[in-house]
Amino acid sequence: MRLRRKPEAKEFVRQHPRVINDPKQLRGQWRTFLQTDRPLHVELGTGKGRFLSTICAAKPNIHWIGVERVEEVLMQALKKADEQDCSNLHFLWMDIAELDEVFDRGEVARFYLHFSDPWPKKRHAKRRLTHRDFLAQYQKILGPKGELLLKTDHRSLYEFTLEELAVCGYTVLEQSEDLHRSPYSEGNIMTEYEEKFVAKGMPIYYLLARPPVEFPEEVLEKRRKRKTWQIDTGQEQADHETNRNDDVSDPLTDRD
Ligand SMILES: C[S@@+](CC[C@H](N)C(=O)[O-])C[C@H]1O[C@@H](n2cnc3c(N)ncnc32)[C@H](O)[C@@H]1O
Repeated sequence: MRLRRKPEAKEFVRQHPRVINDPKQLRGQWRTFLQTDRPLHVELGTGKGRFLSTICAAKPNIHWIGVERVEEVLMQALKKADEQDCSNLHFLWMDIAELDEVFDRGEVARFYLHFSDPWPKKRHAKRRLTHRDFLAQYQKILGPKGELLLKTDHRSLYEFTLEELAVCGYTVLEQSEDLHRSPYSEGNIMTEYEEKFVAKGMPIYYLLARPPVEFPEEVLEKRRKRKTWQIDTGQEQADHETNRNDDVSDPLTDRD
C-alpha cells in the first residue's frame, strides 16, 4: 500500500513551530539554540510519532528530536505532538544520510532506531540504517559516552546490526531477542510499528550499544576506496536516480 501525496504537507511542515528549518546552520550550537543543558535524544525515522509524543512528557529532563524525511508522515507526527504540551520536543525534516552535517561531535547522547526499514535484499544492504557507513556517522556525533538503541521485528536486520557493530568496534551493552519478555521492557514505550507486531505475537529484537572512541581506520579506508570506485563507475549516480523515483511509503504497511 502506498501513502497518498498530500499537497498541503510541505507547507504544514515548513511552517510548524516544532520543525527546525536549516538545521545545518546549528551544527555545534544545538545547546545554545535550544537553551538547554538537557541531553539530546534523537529518534531516526520517527514515522507517525507515537514514541516521541508519549515520552516527551514522561521524560522532561531530556530534549527529544525526531528525524523524518517524508512530509506526509511528519505532518501526522506533528499533529500528534500538538496534542501534548511538551516544550522539549522538536523535529527535523531531512534525510538521515545528512546527519553529520547537522550535529557535531558529542551533541547527541542517544540515537533511537525504531523498526527501521530492513532492506532485506543484499544489494540494498548499504541503505540499512545500521550499515557501517551510518555507524561511522553516529560514532562521530555520539562521542564515547553516547548510545545507539535499536528495536526491530526483523531478525535478519538484528543479526546484520550485531555484525556491523562488531566490525565497527561498538560495545553491545544490552541485547534481547524478545524485549517484551526481558528485564529491558520496563518503561518501554511502544511505537506504531511495535504495537502492530506485538499484537501479532511477534518477538521484538532489542539492543543498546556504545560507539568506540576511535572508529576503526581499516573500515574507514575501505569506505574511501569504495567511494572512489563508485564515482569512477557512476554507480552512485545510478543509485541516486533509483532513490529519487521511489514512491512515498506508508511506514505502517510497507516492507521491501
Ligand atoms: C518503518 S517506519 C518506522 C516508523 C516508527 N519509527 C515506528 O516504529 O513506528 C520507518 C520510517 O523511517 C523513515 N525513514 C526511512 N529512511 C529515512 C531516512 N534516510 N531519512 C529520514 N527518514 C527515513 C520513513 O519515512 C518511515 O517513516
